[in-house]
Amino acid sequence: MTAPILRSLADLRDLTRPFIRAGETIGVVPTMGALHDGHLSLVAAAKARCDRVIVTIFVNPMQFNNPEDLKNYPRTEREDARKLRRFDVDALWVPEADRMYPAHFATTVSVAGLTDVMEGAFRPGHFDGVATVVTKLFTQTTATDAFFGEKDYQQLLVVRRMARDLDLPVTVHGCPTIRDIDGLALSSRNLLLSDRARTRAPVLFDQMERIAEGLRAGDDFAALDAQARARLEKSGFSGVDYLDLRAQEDLAHIATPDRPARLFAAARLAGVRLIDNIAVNDQIAL
Ligand code: PAJ
Repeated sequence: MTAPILRSLADLRDLTRPFIRAGETIGVVPTMGALHDGHLSLVAAAKARCDRVIVTIFVNPMQFNNPEDLKNYPRTEREDARKLRRFDVDALWVPEADRMYPAHFATTVSVAGLTDVMEGAFRPGHFDGVATVVTKLFTQTTATDAFFGEKDYQQLLVVRRMARDLDLPVTVHGCPTIRDIDGLALSSRNLLLSDRARTRAPVLFDQMERIAEGLRAGDDFAALDAQARARLEKSGFSGVDYLDLRAQEDLAHIATPDRPARLFAAARLAGVRLIDNIAVNDQIAL
C-alpha cells in the first residue's frame, strides 16, 4: 500500500491523534531520503517493534556546514516512496524547509562533549543541526521509539544523550550497519561516486578490518594506523580526516582496546567524504 506523504504539521497531527488515543507505539525513522537498504533495515526494525511507523524525509539544511554538499545531496522522493511501499508504513513525513525553520527560528539543541570530536570537529555545527532537527522530528511525530543506524555511530550516541538529557519520551534503538557485498557501508553519498571511485571505495572497510584484526592479535595501534593510511592513499583516497580507536561508550580516545571499542574513519575519495566504523572487540571477553 502507498503511504500518504504528509507535508503539513496539521495533517501529521490528524494522523497520530488516533494512534496516541489508542495507546499505540509510534516508531519514527528519520532520514534525509535517497533511501537504500541501510535505511530500509531501520524501517523493517521499526515495523517489527512498533504498532505504527512514520518515515521522515528531510534534507536538513541546518546540519550541512558546506553549501555545495547540501546542493549536491541526492533527492529522490518518488523513488523513495516506491521503495517504502512494501513496508506498509503509516506515513512519510516530508516537511518543507521553510516550515521546519520559519523566519525568526531561534532555538538550537546542542549536546556537549560527545560532539567535540570526529564529525563534530570536522563539521562545525553539524551535530547542533542534527540534534535540533531530531528533537523537532520526535515531537512532531510524537514518536515512542526511534531507529538510528550504527553507520553513524557518533550521531546515535548524540541522539541518545539528547533524548535522555531532555527527558524525551522516546526509546532510541541502534541498528547494525548494512554493507554492499564488497564491504562498502551503504550511504546516500555513494551515489556521488564515479564508477572508478566506487571500485576503490571498499578499501576503507578493508583497511579498518585489517586494523581490527591486528588489534585482536595484540598489535600496536600506531603501526597499524600508519600502514592503513599509506594503503588508503595508494588506493586514491585524498585525505583521511580521522582514523581513530575510541571507547564505544563515550568516544574517549584509547590506545588499546581494553574496553568495548570501535574504530572510526572518515576519508575523502574523488571529492566524496566517506565515513565508517566497526566494533573491534565485541567477540572478545574483556
Ligand atoms: P541519513 O544519512 O539519511 O541516515 C538516516 C538513518 O539511516 C541514520 O540513522 C543512519 O545512521 C542510517 N543509515 C545510513 N546508512 C546506513 C547503513 N548502511 N546501515 C544502517 N543504517 C544506515 O543520518 C541522517 O540521515 C540525518 O543526520 C538525520 C538523522 C535524518 C537527521 O537529519
